[in-house]
Amino acid sequence: MSTPTIELLCHHRSIRAYTPEPVSDEQIELILTAAQAVSSSNFLQCTSIIRVTDTELRSKLAVLAGNQPYVTQAPEFWVFCADLNRHKQLVPQVELGKAEQLLVGCVDTAIMAQNAVVAAESLGLGCVYIGGIRGQIEQVTTLLNLPKYVLPLFGVCIGHPAQHPDIKPRLPKAAMFFENHYQPIQKSLIDEYNTTMANYYQQRSSNQKVSGWSDTIEKILNSVKRDTMLDYLHQQGWINK
Ligand SMILES: Cc1cc2nc3c(=O)[nH]c(=O)nc-3n(C[C@H](O)[C@H](O)[C@H](O)COP(=O)(O)O)c2cc1C
Repeated sequence: MSTPTIELLCHHRSIRAYTPEPVSDEQIELILTAAQAVSSSNFLQCTSIIRVTDTELRSKLAVLAGNQPYVTQAPEFWVFCADLNRHKQLVPQVELGKAEQLLVGCVDTAIMAQNAVVAAESLGLGCVYIGGIRGQIEQVTTLLNLPKYVLPLFGVCIGHPAQHPDIKPRLPKAAMFFENHYQPIQKSLIDEYNTTMANYYQQRSSNQKVSGWSDTIEKILNSVKRDTMLDYLHQQGWINK
């Protein structure tokens, strides 16, 4: 038997157009409370959220994110950061710069954001993650005055939906859910999924295209170069070696 929570989760779709209606203070408070309720690795609570209300700052972030207009248009735009700076201030002798700490920060921050997104969706709001801010992460860091050990992972736009996009079909479960050991891909399953995605892309209400799923992988993986990321992580203290 399904539950209202499962129904909500399964009806997720990213929302990229919003009505002008603001997200109320009460809704913001509820979303934040739900976000903070998330599990935290070793209870380090290593996430900070920057709520960007300054319109000029928003416009600059929208450009840095690759000209994504909804970053400016959304009533709310929150930048989720992995944050060990708080810990460094409290305990200056702590040794940072270990890869595992970076993973902890990213995992904690991502799951907190997803709590926020689910909470927002449960209030009838719509959201979209904006990983595009990592495209020019150095400038984003400067704009938001982020010190060392604060890593802006993605933004989240939140607002009242002004669009109702179709739900995007996911991989067949058998292609991603394995028992005991990892399994190589089953080509027939992926072929079937490519057909499903091709139908979806051709029939969806906007931005139709002729494409399956696997033919997009190369283009996407190769376009996400972000060649300066390793240098950036060194400079910001996340990786020592
Ligand atoms: C970490 C992360 C970063 C994302 N960054 C962007 C982004 O910069 N711009 C955008 O339009 N969508 C972005 N998305 C949304 C994905 O494109 C979207 O979740 C995916 O296509 C599946 O569609 P759905 O969310 O409607 O189910 C991002 C999603 C995640 C999880």
